[in-house]
Order: sequence, then structure tokens, then C-alpha cells
Amino acid sequence: MKDVFSPLFIGFKFTNYINDDVDNFLKLYNRKIVAEHTKAVANECKIIAEKFGVDVQKAELAGLLHDISAVFSFDERLNISNNLGLEVLNEEKEFPLILHQKISAVMAQDIWNINDEHVLSAIGCHTTLQRNYSELDLVLFIADKIKWDQKGIPPYIEQVEEGLKISLEHAAYAYIKYIMENKENLKVIHPWLTEAYEDLNFKIN
Ligand SMILES: [Fe+2]
Ligand SMILES: [Fe+2]
Repeated sequence: MKDVFSPLFIGFKFTNYINDDVDNFLKLYNRKIVAEHTKAVANECKIIAEKFGVDVQKAELAGLLHDISAVFSFDERLNISNNLGLEVLNEEKEFPLILHQKISAVMAQDIWNINDEHVLSAIGCHTTLQRNYSELDLVLFIADKIKWDQKGIPPYIEQVEEGLKISLEHAAYAYIKYIMENKENLKVIHPWLTEAYEDLNFKIN
């Protein structure tokens, strides 16, 4: 295990069930809302994957681990990313919260021995999506937005659900379209989001 992660696991007992381990680990660091969000997202991943013929097990796994790096505080994320040798974009320096997607992917591989590139990719772009997204990337991206970690109903939910009646791409497009039309609420616009939007727009329209 990497040095930046090992202190977090001192005394932590792994079971044979990743669902339990993730839940216990997040709760150990008082991330109860994230723990509930994680369960909801993993479940939503299964539902969406099933509907579109995407690997259900991989989708659930990606959902379970996508926010695992939430145990690090906002101020730690930049340091951790530098420590791990991750590429940090200017937008991420400005708003390090977004870095949690990349850190979660490293944790999934390093701690839970996930080596499936599709699962790691989906975790690593679950907030922003990315250019040349895979179906699994789309499944997690959409599930994370439907089962968001905030109070109340997501303002874009109707458009995303309408999109899901057609395709994964339509749902992802509907979400990003909403975000782009309400840009003033965003701290930064991540370039991956813009690139994904271009790809989706090309594909759909
Ligand atoms: Fe996240
Ligand atoms: Fe999330």
C-alpha cells in the first residue's frame, strides 16, 4: 500500500465483502453522507447497467469505490495528488475538490487491487466525464448525478431521466447541458467536462 494511504488503514479490519469494507471505512472517518451516497450510487449503477447491457458487476464496483477518497479533507487533496504523481490541471489546482475522482481511482487500484481499466477509468472521471468515454464511464457519471450527495431533488433530474429513456449518451448530455446553462453556479469548468460535452453533442445531434 502506498505511504499516503497506509496510515488510514492502521487497525482497519477488512472483511471478505467490499460493500461492507467501503461502508466501514467511510464511516470510520465520519463520512456518513458519502457512505449513504455510495450505496445509492452503486445500486443505481446496477440498475442503469442492467438496462443498457453494461457489465453490472463492474458498474457496482465502480459505484462502490468512486468517492472513497472522500476520507481526505478538501485541503489535503492537492498535496495527496502531488504525492501520488497525478497530473494536476489548473482548474483542479483552483478547485481541488475535483481531484477526488483521480485519487479514488488510485485508491481502488492500490488498496482494493482493482486492475480493470474500465472500472478505474469510470471512477477516475465520474465527476467530469471525459472525451472518448466508455459505456461504463457514462453509467457511473449518470448514477452519481441521479443519486447526488446533496439534499433534495437534483434540479436536472427530469431531463436526465428523459435522456435515459433514449440512451446513456442522451442522459449524460442532458446533465451537462443543464450544467453549462447554469455555469454561474460552477467554481470552474473542468476541460474534461467540456470535451465530453463536445463528443456527446457530436454523437447526438
Ligand atoms: Fe465524487
Ligand atoms: Fe459521488
